Amino acid sequence: MHKIAVIVGSIRQESINKKLARALAKLAEGKLVFDTVQIDDLPLFNQDDEKNLPPAVQRIKAAIRGADGVLFVTPEHNRSIPAALKNAIDWASRPSKESAFSGKVGAILGTSRGRLSTALAQSHLRVIAGCQLDALLTLPETYINFTDALIDVDANVTDEAVKTLLVHFIDGFVRLLERSPPA
Ligand code: FNR
Repeated sequence: MHKIAVIVGSIRQESINKKLARALAKLAEGKLVFDTVQIDDLPLFNQDDEKNLPPAVQRIKAAIRGADGVLFVTPEHNRSIPAALKNAIDWASRPSKESAFSGKVGAILGTSRGRLSTALAQSHLRVIAGCQLDALLTLPETYINFTDALIDVDANVTDEAVKTLLVHFIDGFVRLLERSPPA
């Protein structure tokens, strides 16, 4: 079983991306174990502090280092990733040559109610995470159109087609993890 550090790009309580992450964790039972990385208490990135990292930053770096892979579940904010997610990635990537992402593999997922879902945010995130991680799952690209009925209160995905997409995503991630020796 692979341990995955999950970074959800939304810090809001009723986040639909948090719901998607919970549903994915349920679908991945027996294959992946999810450990959610808390990012809502991180200070704003300041390079002056990177040689003496704040405790919350040390905590997220340890969580990422202790995992076999990293999963990003991101909303789209103004056609890119939310500032909270970029902030977390910037902290975890520093100082130079001490990135917590070094040697890790990752995967990207996201949901919105918009017609393009999170396609542009995911595309930006591929560029950002692509210069940190050893490898990123490229296929299947997985953009989930959220509706209120999609995920029930017990974190079950109610739409069979979406469930199939998510299972393919999980299986692709497992294959990538098994191709890459742990860092
Ligand atoms: C949005 N939203 C949004 N949706 C989208 O599909 N494309 C976009 O570019 C944006 N832009 C955007 C900017 C800002 C500042 C906000 C607050 C929202 C809507 C967004 O998808 C919606 O708020 C989701 O619920 C965000 O995900 P979480 O926070 O619920 O996980």
